Amino acid sequence: MVHPLDDVDRIMDVMTSAFPSEFGEAWNRRQVSDALLLPATQYALIADDGAMELKPCDPAAGFYLSRGVLDEEELLLFAIAPESRRKGLGHALLREFIEHARQRGKKRLFLEMRRNNPAGILYASHGFRAVGIRPRYYRALNGDRIDAITQELVLE
Ligand SMILES: CC(C)(COP(=O)(O)OP(=O)(O)OC[C@H]1O[C@@H](n2cnc3c(N)ncnc32)[C@H](O)[C@@H]1OP(=O)(O)O)[C@@H](O)C(=O)NCCC(=O)NCCS
Repeated sequence: MVHPLDDVDRIMDVMTSAFPSEFGEAWNRRQVSDALLLPATQYALIADDGAMELKPCDPAAGFYLSRGVLDEEELLLFAIAPESRRKGLGHALLREFIEHARQRGKKRLFLEMRRNNPAGILYASHGFRAVGIRPRYYRALNGDRIDAITQELVLE
């Protein structure tokens, strides 16, 4: 188990390259390090070769961060670094998120995404379904407003 402070560096390396800057979705370092100190926070890293246990010097190719309340878990951040995309890491990391939540007794998983984010194809392939819309929730740097789509996966 790597100390969470080392993992803050790994998460921030992915964060700064993975999220398009125009939507302001990326968290800053302080937000991440504070979140990792909270007992309700769960996170995992994935290496470029798909390993979920990273060696001490390995960078992360992707991560998720989620927060749980009772039998629900909300996926707050989910990202794969651009140079590691389209080779199945997103699938592997999402599978890990779902299975880890299931093992901890979670019944309902939630996430929120920008309308038309290609990530929606990935989420749908794992059973997530749109259950709500927050109209014009995201504001792009150019002033455009984009709906947020709330997605849910009910676990058996
Ligand atoms: C979304 C994201 C995590 C996908 O990671 P990835 O490692 O490329 O995902 P995978 O290789 O496992 O691909 C999963 C599937 O998602 C779909 N997909 C992923 N990116 C896509 C894209 N740009 N366009 C269309 N479909 C896409 C495809 O169906 C893909 O399967 P395929 O490659 O067999 O066709 C990654 O693009 C990312 O980090 N995006 C920026 C951050 C972000 O928007 N996170 C989600 C916030 S809600």
